[in-house]
Amino acid sequence: MNSPLTLGQQIDTQIAANGPMSIATYMGLCLTHPTKGYYKGPDPLGAKGDFITAPEISQMFGELIGFWLVNIWQQMDEPKSFNLLELGPGRGTLMADILRVACRAPGFRDALKLKLFETNPVLTGQQRSRLEVYDPKWLENFENFDEGPILIIANEFFDALPIRQFVRKPDGWHERQVGLADGKRVFGLSPTPIPPEALPDAVASAELDTVYEVSFAAGEVMSVLSKLVARQGGAILAIDYGYAETRTGETLQGVRNHAYADVLENPGETDLSAHVDFGALIGAARLAGIATQPVVTQGDFLLQLGIGERAGALSRANPGSAEDIRIARDRLVNEDQMGTLFKVFCAHSPGLIPPGFAS
Ligand SMILES: C[S@@+](CC[C@H](N)C(=O)[O-])C[C@H]1O[C@@H](n2cnc3c(N)ncnc32)[C@H](O)[C@@H]1O
Repeated sequence: MNSPLTLGQQIDTQIAANGPMSIATYMGLCLTHPTKGYYKGPDPLGAKGDFITAPEISQMFGELIGFWLVNIWQQMDEPKSFNLLELGPGRGTLMADILRVACRAPGFRDALKLKLFETNPVLTGQQRSRLEVYDPKWLENFENFDEGPILIIANEFFDALPIRQFVRKPDGWHERQVGLADGKRVFGLSPTPIPPEALPDAVASAELDTVYEVSFAAGEVMSVLSKLVARQGGAILAIDYGYAETRTGETLQGVRNHAYADVLENPGETDLSAHVDFGALIGAARLAGIATQPVVTQGDFLLQLGIGERAGALSRANPGSAEDIRIARDRLVNEDQMGTLFKVFCAHSPGLIPPGFAS
């Protein structure tokens, strides 16, 4: 039943009854509470929303990933049936740009079984209208794939999965929690430290008050998908803001109307995200027995795939838009824009050589 209480009131009631909750529980409620979660509400993307993503900046982003996919499909000897899964497809823009390019490869369209994994009903509607010609199926879980390899794309999906935070104190690492003080939501720490062996070696000797973040949800998703790729063949391409190796540091952030916002205020109306620990995702993929590439920056990846040439061709075809195309290209690859902050991760069947990762 749809409660008349705001999500904030529901969270406060839960804390008052059960005590403080972990950051992961809080983040999960804020983002995907069945009726009042941030990702159950209106379209969050674009100028009128809270943030903008690479595919919404330029068609070049998806087109280059389309070439990337065709290359991988050809390396796999052009299977007559394969699954293409996108995690968190947003407005469907990225997949529409990908498939406009990729379906020009003879045989690709006929072999394609398109799968989408999405939690937001409004965005699902937009995906349906943009992608229905490709006959997509929306997955509730990662089961029931068609025969053949599985190719997986995720842009800014993993950063939206809940994280836990631990803080180093003299007696060990304590979990950071959300509690109540004088009726207001506040951060606090669990009274008892966690067993030190629960932490990776990379953080064990950190200084006092250091914060360590871990997303068990992201690790679990990567583990399940990697096992599928190990069984059926294929590749996973994930692009997100994050760091290449597991490390300490606090990155949980709130964003509202294109500006940073307090994480504890307006639950369900603020986007919450954290930088992705690609080192942990590499570990999950390797444990499942598939190969991984060293993480590269989005700028290097797109430049290697030929964004310079694609921008040139688009500008020649649309001279009146040449300046906009240059600005979009710079935004995607320049170091002081998205080029360095965003990283590209790839895990794949052994033997494949994914383009864009040459050192
Ligand atoms: C930041 S948006 C990125 C959208 C799109 N990939 C893009 O680049 O424009 C995150 C996407 O993941 C979806 N999402 C977030 N959490 C999810 C979850 N737990 N399960 C499924 N989809 C989720 C959102 O609804 C949205 O489509």
